[in-house]
Amino acid sequence: MARNATNELLRKAKKSKSDEFYTQLSDIESELQHYRSHFENKVVYCNCDDPRISNFFKYFASNFKKLGLKKLIAACFREQLRDLFNRIDDENGFFYEYTGTDGEKEKPSLTDIVYFNGDGDFRSSESIELLKQSDIIVTNPPFSLFREHVAQLIKYDKKFLIIGNINAITYKEIFKLIKENKAWLGINLGRGISGFIVPEHYELYGTEARTDSLGNRIVSPNNCLWLTNLDTFKRHEDIALTKKYFGNEDEYPRYDNYDGINVNKTQDIPSDYKGVMGVPITFLHRFNPNQFEIIRFRKGNDEKDLSINGKCPYFRILIKNKRIQTECVDLTEKEKTMYNEVLCLDDRIRPACQPANW
Ligand SMILES: C[S@@+](CC[C@H](N)C(=O)[O-])C[C@H]1O[C@@H](n2cnc3c(N)ncnc32)[C@H](O)[C@@H]1O
Repeated sequence: MARNATNELLRKAKKSKSDEFYTQLSDIESELQHYRSHFENKVVYCNCDDPRISNFFKYFASNFKKLGLKKLIAACFREQLRDLFNRIDDENGFFYEYTGTDGEKEKPSLTDIVYFNGDGDFRSSESIELLKQSDIIVTNPPFSLFREHVAQLIKYDKKFLIIGNINAITYKEIFKLIKENKAWLGINLGRGISGFIVPEHYELYGTEARTDSLGNRIVSPNNCLWLTNLDTFKRHEDIALTKKYFGNEDEYPRYDNYDGINVNKTQDIPSDYKGVMGVPITFLHRFNPNQFEIIRFRKGNDEKDLSINGKCPYFRILIKNKRIQTECVDLTEKEKTMYNEVLCLDDRIRPACQPANW
């Protein structure tokens, strides 16, 4: 093989390590079961998906009637690897539209697809035209273009449900969307997404890699999430707060560079603290915007990472409990103690921050 061709294959192989993770049908089913009501009479667009092999396309085509879909579109980028699922390299991207009409194929072949004039990049005008006709974008986009993919969805004001890396939460553009309640985490996260099918050339490593019964090579990075702006039941569930700040102040040290306390685990968020609290990013998986408000991410007033006695805990998200009334601020220490005693008796029936004689 000529050196240039070898280099090209290596380059593609390297890139594919991050971008060529193919989503398993079981993971799609496990997430999508929570969103059924959103799809009635909607056009779904999978804009990073080869309709011949994508499990997203397969899921929507086979559940087309059950979901009451209007149309399903999948578009494929040209840059495919020769040794991946025996696909061909082609300069042009292509797409396939499915409307559930008799005679249409749920599993299209090369003769059924429509070629783009260009490469089918999700940012191309041809792909954007399909995006504009669509209501909900559902896919696992290339990780290396995640920010751009999300920015496009926001720009065109689309509903979406997509897979990304958990680190995406820490990108400032993505965090801003979460803070402003324009996007949130889906139901499954981390180990809740069981793994991805990877191409032949992908080096299997460690104990997290396996070959499934169909011979697919699967890696389980355990660091992925679903990002969406479709409402879920989870966003309306309160986190049960069983801990108290007052009386346990030592467990919640204050930051050096921000007026707030540090909380190491989401389940340790105290029910009686009205000020700002720094919580781990996993909090976002249980975030109910009616219960908490997100204030900021990671940085103190000096724009440096939040620190406690000079040491920085892993990234923290600064939040406030919305349900604690302002009157709490004026309680004396004695009143706070009385209040906490009563609060311990029954958190549920008495609104937080009512004085003891309520
Ligand atoms: C992480 S893989 C996921 C594939 C498929 N969505 C799935 O979940 O099985 C990302 C896919 O995006 C394709 N891709 C890469 N760059 C792209 C681009 N600029 N526009 C559209 N698709 C692209 C890759 O070829 C790859 O198939």
